[in-house]
Amino acid sequence: MAKKRIDLYFKTDPAWVEVATQDMAKLLADHANCERKASAMATSLIMKYRDRPAIIEPLIALAIEELEHFKQVYALMKAKNMPLREDMKDPYVKQLMKQVRLGRDEAFLDRLLICSVIETRGAERFQLLANGLEEEAMRCFYRDLWAAEARHGDLFVELALIYFDETLVNQRLHEIGQAEGDIVRDLPWASSFH
Ligand SMILES: [Fe+2]
Ligand SMILES: [Fe+2]
Repeated sequence: MAKKRIDLYFKTDPAWVEVATQDMAKLLADHANCERKASAMATSLIMKYRDRPAIIEPLIALAIEELEHFKQVYALMKAKNMPLREDMKDPYVKQLMKQVRLGRDEAFLDRLLICSVIETRGAERFQLLANGLEEEAMRCFYRDLWAAEARHGDLFVELALIYFDETLVNQRLHEIGQAEGDIVRDLPWASSFH
């Protein structure tokens, strides 16, 4: 049976919520940037791999949905009088991208699976916020997003399985998942998602 979702090899300690929410303005600004970049990543994958037509429509839909998330986060920030902030280089994504192998097919598979793990980690942290935040409206907000990001984690694996065989996909999921676990374990906590 092909796995639909990557396993997270390192579970975030629920105490992360306390540190992440110390500066809500910073956390939400980081969140807005993550959504915007997820949308941009989807459209850039489409153009880079436009010869793999099965990814085009699902990733257009994803890009729209991520931009909708960006809109929702911004609405929340606006209501709280919190500004958008400059996009900081994300050390998590930067380190994950080092897992991309050379070769067009290899890089295509690795990029899809890295997107899957980023989505799955996002879902995990949204779930922690959904359970750990005090404000009911915020808990609801993160509950909805948690479900969406978990679905996106599956989508990237489904796309990979259209073009690559299951054994290979599972093997790379395992390798990338382990690398991601090591990266997350070593990153200091801050008011940001990674
Ligand atoms: Fe999103
Ligand atoms: Fe997503």
